[in-house]
Amino acid sequence: MSDKNYIVAGGSSGIGLELVKKLALEGTVYVLSRSQDSLSNIENVIPITIDLAKDEIPADALPEVIHGIAYCPGTINLKPFRSLKLEQFREDFEINLIGAVKVIQAGLKGMKKSGGAGVVLFSTVAVGQGMSFHASIGAAKGAVEGLTRSLAAELAPKIRVNCIAPSLTDTPLAAKFLATPEKQEASANRHPLRRYGSAEEIASFAHFLLQEKGSWMTGQILGVDGGLSRLR
Ligand SMILES: NC(=O)c1ccc[n+]([C@@H]2O[C@H](COP(=O)([O-])OP(=O)(O)OC[C@H]3O[C@@H](n4cnc5c(N)ncnc54)[C@H](OP(=O)(O)O)[C@@H]3O)[C@@H](O)[C@H]2O)c1
Repeated sequence: MSDKNYIVAGGSSGIGLELVKKLALEGTVYVLSRSQDSLSNIENVIPITIDLAKDEIPADALPEVIHGIAYCPGTINLKPFRSLKLEQFREDFEINLIGAVKVIQAGLKGMKKSGGAGVVLFSTVAVGQGMSFHASIGAAKGAVEGLTRSLAAELAPKIRVNCIAPSLTDTPLAAKFLATPEKQEASANRHPLRRYGSAEEIASFAHFLLQEKGSWMTGQILGVDGGLSRLR
């Protein structure tokens, strides 16, 4: 095992949890989330209990040297624009964008010391392609894509910043969209590749982007989406 240190915000569930399992085979993973029960059987994990929508990251919580950060918390609040309250826009913005800013700022010094670090953020297919009822999440994730490109420019060449924009993926966040066989079939059929995503396959892309293998990529928004963003 290497002596690398990774930060996974939102590593207790879904895509983040699958990423933690991969990174924990290679180094120490600091996991920031509100709950930690799902991590109890994984070695090389240091849990940090925090609500990233509200709390500041304690100054001494993160390691001296950081080789990679993934920011996974997200929301799917789908409503017609007329019934979306301003508060909803603010909450989505807070956890999707401001939370990511917090974690990256807290880890910046440590990443600069690593001699080549990677950051992975998460957007959604609904930014590149307009979708009804996605105004709040689309706006918040659009900001995440802007942050990705801006930071990639500003932090090169020491730190690479990329973003994955998945379509519907089988995680606790998406559970209500996949709750019955009918919903699963309808969701699968919306994609040119006729299925929805798995947490493991999205985590594999995040893992790639944090590794040496992904070291010539920065500023990219990667559509891992069964073809939904590009094909008809
Ligand atoms: N699943 C999809 O269909 C889909 C589609 C497009 C984009 N995405 C994006 O992909 C990313 C990962 O999604 P996922 O489906 O894996 O989500 P998930 O299963 O809900 O996992 C989200 C993780 O973030 C943590 N988290 C949420 N709110 C938090 C807070 N306030 N403070 C600290 N931690 C918090 C959760 O842990 P705790 O609850 O323990 O805090 C959990 O570990 C998200 O950014 C999402 O928007 C997902």
